[in-house]
Amino acid sequence: MKENISVSLKNVESFISFEEILALAQQSVMHLDTLNKGTGPGGDFLGWMSLPEDIRPQLERIEKVAERLRSISDLTVIVGIGGSYLGSRAVVEALSHSFSSLRKDKHHEIVFAGQNLSEDYLSELLDILDVRNYTVVVISKSGVTTEPAIAFRIIKNHLEKKVGKKEASERIVAITDSKKGALRPLADANGYETFVIPDNIGGRYSVLTPAGLLPIALSGIDIRMLVEGAASMQAVTRKNRDASTNLSLIYAAARNLIMRSGRTTEIMVSYTPKLHYFAEWWKQLFGESEGKDGKGIFPAAVDFTTDLHSLGQYIQDGQRIMFETVLSVTEPKRELRVPKEEDNADQLNYLSGQRLSEVDHNAEAGTILAHHDGNVPVILLTIPKLNEYYIGQLFYFFELACAVSGYILDVNPFDQPGVEAYKRNMFALLNKPGYEEAGRLLRERLK
Ligand code: PA5
Repeated sequence: MKENISVSLKNVESFISFEEILALAQQSVMHLDTLNKGTGPGGDFLGWMSLPEDIRPQLERIEKVAERLRSISDLTVIVGIGGSYLGSRAVVEALSHSFSSLRKDKHHEIVFAGQNLSEDYLSELLDILDVRNYTVVVISKSGVTTEPAIAFRIIKNHLEKKVGKKEASERIVAITDSKKGALRPLADANGYETFVIPDNIGGRYSVLTPAGLLPIALSGIDIRMLVEGAASMQAVTRKNRDASTNLSLIYAAARNLIMRSGRTTEIMVSYTPKLHYFAEWWKQLFGESEGKDGKGIFPAAVDFTTDLHSLGQYIQDGQRIMFETVLSVTEPKRELRVPKEEDNADQLNYLSGQRLSEVDHNAEAGTILAHHDGNVPVILLTIPKLNEYYIGQLFYFFELACAVSGYILDVNPFDQPGVEAYKRNMFALLNKPGYEEAGRLLRERLK
C-alpha cells in the first residue's frame, strides 16, 4: 500500500496548541457535512468533490486525443489563464525535465500562452511557431476571457496561414463550457475536437477535468496515476468525520487559528524549483477562494534555498505577519553526490560523499527551526516523492481544505466577484461596446 502525504504541526504547537487545532477541526466537520450535502454557499460548484471517480470514463479519450496531437506535431501551445492554466502547468513543471526545451532527444514540448497580454511574449512565441510543427489546445470555461481569447485569435490566424484552415481545424482542440460563451460556437463552426468543463466545477478546482488533464497527458505524464492519487486522498478525507485523522480538516483548522493570532500571510515554501508552479496553483486556489468580504489569508510563495538569499531575511526578522507551510519532498528522483577533492581549495570536503538532497534537507530542517525561533509558525507537509500519485493527493487535499477554510471564514469559496473590477475598467478603457461612459470617466481620472 502506498503512503499518504503527512502533516506535522510540531512547529506550530508553541503558538497554538494541538488541542485548540483539533477542537476547530472537529467543529469544522459540520462544514464537511455541508459540502457533502451541497447546502452551503456555492453549493452548485461542488463537482470537483467526486471528480476522481467521475473523470475516469473520459481518461481513455483524453489519452487518445493527446496521442493524436503528439503524432501530428512536436509542440503544443496551451492557451488559457487562471484555473484554465495553472493546474496543468503545475504538474507539467513538477514532472518534466527541468531543461526539457534544451534536450536534444525527441520529446513533445508544451508551451503556454494566453496567461498574459504581453506583446513581446506572444511575438516571441510566434517566432518559434514560424519554424515548428505545432498544435493548439485552447481552454476557457467561460469562453470569453480576454487574455486567452486574444492569444487564441492570433495563434489560430498564424496556424491557418501556415497549414490552411482545414488542417488547422484538425490541429486545434477546444476545452470549454457545454453551451455558454464564444468559444463553443467557434469550435463547432470550425469542427474542432472539444471537451467540456462541467458547469458545476469552477476554474481553480478544474485540474482533474480535461482542462488540466489533456495538457498533462500531452507532456507524457501519467494522468491515471494523478487521478488515483486524488482518489486515495478523497477516500480518507471527504467522508472522514474523525477530525483527528482528516488531514484537510487539520490543515484548515491550523491555518485559520494561526491567522487569528495576527499572522495573515501564509507562505508556501518548497525546496525544489519543480514545485514553483504548484505554489502558483495553490496561491490561486486559496487567494480567489478566501480573499473576499474583507477576509482571507494572503497566500504567498517562496522557492528555497533560492529565496533564502532574498526574502529569507524578511521572514526571519521583518514584521511578524506570516506563517509558513513547507511542502517537503523526501526522496528526489535522481542521485548526485558532492565529489571529494584532494586540495579542498573550496573547503567543501566536509560534505564530500553526501547527496545534494542531504544538504538540502539539512537546509530545510535548519531553516524551519530558525524561522520557528523567529516567531514564525511552520506547518510541515511531506510527500514521499514528487510523482503523479502524490501530486494528485495534494490537489485533493488542498481543494478540500480550501473549501472548508472558506466556510470557516464564512465566505463563498467558489465565486470570484473581485476579479470583475479590473475587467470592467479594462473594457471601459478599451472602448468595448457598452462601456463608453465608464471609459470617459476613467480617462478623466487618468489625466
Ligand atoms: O478560478 C476561476 O474561475 C478563474 O480563475 C478562471 O479559471 C479564469 O478567470 C479563467 O477563466 P476561463 O476558463 O473562463 O477563461
